[in-house]
Amino acid sequence: EKGGYDYFMLKEIAEQPKAVADTLLGRIDLAGNLCLDEVRIPASVLREVTKVVIVACGTAYHAGMIAKYAIEHWTRIPCETELASEFRYRDPILDQRTLVIAISQSGETMDTLMALRHAREQGAKVLAICNTNGSTIPRESDAVLYTHAGPEVAVASTKAFLTQLVACYLVALYLGQVRGTKWGDEILSVIRELSEIATQVDEVLETMEPVRELARTLADKNTVLFLGRHVGFPVALEGALKLKELAYMHAEGFAAGELKHGPIALIEQDVPVVVVVPSPRGRSVLHDKIVSNIQEIRARGARTIVIAERGDAAVAPYADHLIEIPVTPTLLQPLVATVPLQVFACELATARGNEVDQPRNLAKSVTVE
Ligand code: F6R
Repeated sequence: EKGGYDYFMLKEIAEQPKAVADTLLGRIDLAGNLCLDEVRIPASVLREVTKVVIVACGTAYHAGMIAKYAIEHWTRIPCETELASEFRYRDPILDQRTLVIAISQSGETMDTLMALRHAREQGAKVLAICNTNGSTIPRESDAVLYTHAGPEVAVASTKAFLTQLVACYLVALYLGQVRGTKWGDEILSVIRELSEIATQVDEVLETMEPVRELARTLADKNTVLFLGRHVGFPVALEGALKLKELAYMHAEGFAAGELKHGPIALIEQDVPVVVVVPSPRGRSVLHDKIVSNIQEIRARGARTIVIAERGDAAVAPYADHLIEIPVTPTLLQPLVATVPLQVFACELATARGNEVDQPRNLAKSVTVE
């Protein structure tokens, strides 16, 4: 049932191109109109929304953090993303014009469920992004958009994460469509870019051998740091989470701009630091800033593991290890940048003799608060 792979996690990593393609399938017509049939909140209600609040836990929360960038950029609706466990207990401000998006692979996560119940009690509309048909979270929501990742067995979430991102981009575009901030042509062009992602993830998967080799050389390290900016920041958090849960290593993700506000004190000789580099095209200011961050940490002895767009000549000289990813639009980069981090964590876990599919102390769905 592992389809020839040693672990479900490896199988699920390999299934990502299909999972991404399946999640896009049938959700757009030839005129560029999104037809998200499972979203049963009337367009008239969505047009009145004044705030979007995303709630989720763990990996799904990282997807929600990335969604915030897309939603605000494409729809200009203020959006916040919050850990479900924090949201519920701090008396959040919600009303009928708030759209709450609850993201959950299992659809059974208690913290997320409690957050959505609280939101509905306050009159907010809740849209679930979920991978499990008929589970509790979509049943209790006003609307649902299913991710089509197929069953995810390994405890560490991989393909579900990528499909959560795709679903979030679709919701963002849909909101843009009903509110008139995004038109057919623009939507079609993003959809076209999204349609290429499956092939691009495949390309990434084919070039992972050096990443696995690198991971094996780091098996005796105590700590690995991850840096990113903009949508690369949640990717850094996700890379660190994967490493913690699978390799049982200390790992931390930082916003690269925060380095000088504290974390740079952690840099010492030979500390591995993974840096997710934004595209040098588009918002190139961010790219330049991260290149100088890399120079700073390297000057202090860090071993830099750089995930950068193919052909990014400006960053290459500062990379002790360069992991190239395909050229994508800035907002979509997490779909390809996360994949090497999954492979990296899985290989490190294997090298350390850990149980990849069933990490200690963890459960696939967390049905207690
Ligand atoms: C990490 C992981 C967890 C889940 C989290 C939420 O790899 O799997 O962090 O993402 O427990 O679970 P769902 O998405 O089922 O609500």
